Amino acid sequence: MNQDLEKILISEEQIQETVKRLAKQIDQDYKDKELLFVGLLKGSVAFMADLLKHIETKCKIDFMCVSSYGSDTKSSGRVNILKDLSQPIDNMNVIIVEDIIDSGNTLAFIKTYFAAKNADSVKICTLLNKPSRREIEIDVDYVGFEIEDEFVVGYGLDYAEYYRNLPYIGVLKPSIYS
Ligand code: IMP
Ligand code: MG
Repeated sequence: MNQDLEKILISEEQIQETVKRLAKQIDQDYKDKELLFVGLLKGSVAFMADLLKHIETKCKIDFMCVSSYGSDTKSSGRVNILKDLSQPIDNMNVIIVEDIIDSGNTLAFIKTYFAAKNADSVKICTLLNKPSRREIEIDVDYVGFEIEDEFVVGYGLDYAEYYRNLPYIGVLKPSIYS
């Protein structure tokens, strides 16, 4: 798998340090409240698992699976729900956990979808943010790393469903997908 990468962008150590920082920030913001973490499958799985281990706030977890990708490396703008929430979220403080925000289409859809569900609050926590690619403006509350416009894989992120198991984040060689 390593030879398919141009370079390692974010090391395992850097990821773990940042995950701890985000968990601390979230704990401080929600002190005596309860939280519902909603992970967006499948990309957020590694991040969600590591984040939760450092969260001290009382919480529940849930998952949604949506698809937005028309081709493999470009968003189609259309979002379909493949797996919905398994519990009501009214009166809950929700944090949506995402691997990466690119065009913003996925999160824009999810935020609108959640707005009708009477949650007390809905915030977004993303490991990676690619602001230069944004098509829709999104308020992001917790960001791990801002990255350039490069296609990255690892630590949950995939190309054609592969590379999710890498413990770090790397830039995929363009020759792999072009
Ligand atoms: P958005 O709707 O364009 O913001 O896309 C969000 C989704 O696109 C993410 O949850 C990822 O699954 C996928 N995605 C965007 N950029 C990358 C990348 O660089 N590597 C892997 N997946 C990506
Ligand atoms: Mg993906």
